[in-house]
Amino acid sequence: MMKPWLVFAWAVLVASSVARASPPLEVGYYKHTCPQAEDIVRNAVRRAVARDPGLAAGLIRMHFHDCFVRGCDASILIDSTPGHEAEKDSQANNPSLRGFEVIEEAKAIVEAHCPRTVSCADIVAFAARDGAYLAGGIDYLVPSGRRDGRVSDVDEVLDDNVPFPTFTVGELVENFRRKGLSADDMVTLSGAHTIGRSHCSSLTERLYNFSGEPERTDPSFDPEYAADLKRRCPPSTDDMEDRTTVPLDLKTPTSLDNQYFKNVLAHKVPFTSDQTLLDSPWTAGIVAFHAAVGKAWEAKFAAAMVKMGAIEVLTGDEGEIREKCSVVNHY
Ligand code: HEM
Ligand SMILES: *[C@@H]1O[C@H](CO)[C@@H](O)[C@H](O)[C@H]1NC(C)=O
Repeated sequence: MMKPWLVFAWAVLVASSVARASPPLEVGYYKHTCPQAEDIVRNAVRRAVARDPGLAAGLIRMHFHDCFVRGCDASILIDSTPGHEAEKDSQANNPSLRGFEVIEEAKAIVEAHCPRTVSCADIVAFAARDGAYLAGGIDYLVPSGRRDGRVSDVDEVLDDNVPFPTFTVGELVENFRRKGLSADDMVTLSGAHTIGRSHCSSLTERLYNFSGEPERTDPSFDPEYAADLKRRCPPSTDDMEDRTTVPLDLKTPTSLDNQYFKNVLAHKVPFTSDQTLLDSPWTAGIVAFHAAVGKAWEAKFAAAMVKMGAIEVLTGDEGEIREKCSVVNHY
């Protein structure tokens, strides 16, 4: 027979761990509290993409940059304040990251229907899925129940979190591994570079100053592709302030297909971080598989987006439900 005090201690322990455990994300989290939420987000994204197809790409990248810094907690949406720079203003995000107004619009409509119920972090995750779907990808279920963080610090973005376009395959594998993502996930998610654009400044080094050698072009470029990029991005566009852009996928720039992997095989991709996927036999094999079997990549992409969407999430009573996505609550 157990001693009564032991039973009591055990009960307290169980009760406190149940209360403290953060519940997992779940599909349909808002079905009773805000059943319209996902439709509202989809409609906002649909309007946005009809206006500017590039916003589909912007919203997918926003989810990635949110999840890789402090987990998927909408820290990417918080505005800088006097004396404090937020993630948004990192050179990895400003001026290139786009779609903030789409999230703000969706949030305003969601708030009008169900105040203080749906997190900004979930809206970002839904919007990324909707962007992928509207760009021709498959429509996948997004587990939700994320809560919003209260911290966003510019220094956390490029300090070991968001990868650089100059990364080699080993650096990329390690960067994703620290977020709980495999090398396969990394290659699969890189396929997002089949839509959207890059500012010239992200690739001028590879065109004009490769390995720090003036006038040198990365020899791993297909020569005609490099010549085309040089026409689109003359040396003057090296400036971070310059807003000239190039499509990431010149063949099918707005469709979420497996063309990216064919481009990698053809040496027609903008960043070192894209071309380097051929530098290890394991990742090169995955590239070749995705290039050959587009349907398999589409399904793997959806699954990897769901996995990425669960990185270090806040759930249960952690964090808060932000009222306005660009500022933390004041109470
Ligand atoms: C593997 C490491 C990655 C690196 C180094 C990287 C780097 C970059 C860079 C430098 C740009 C161009 C930004 C600009 O100058 O305008 C870009 C664009 C983009 N990235 Fe990545 N990226 C990576 C992975 C990912 C992942 C995992 C996703 C999403 C699943 C993603 C989605 C996108 C999209 C959609 C764009 C186009 C954005 C737009 O058109 O607004 N990237 N990326
Ligand atoms: C070329 O790269 C080197 C090393 O990164 C750098 O010091 C130099 O300023 C660069 N030159 C130009 C023209 O950007």
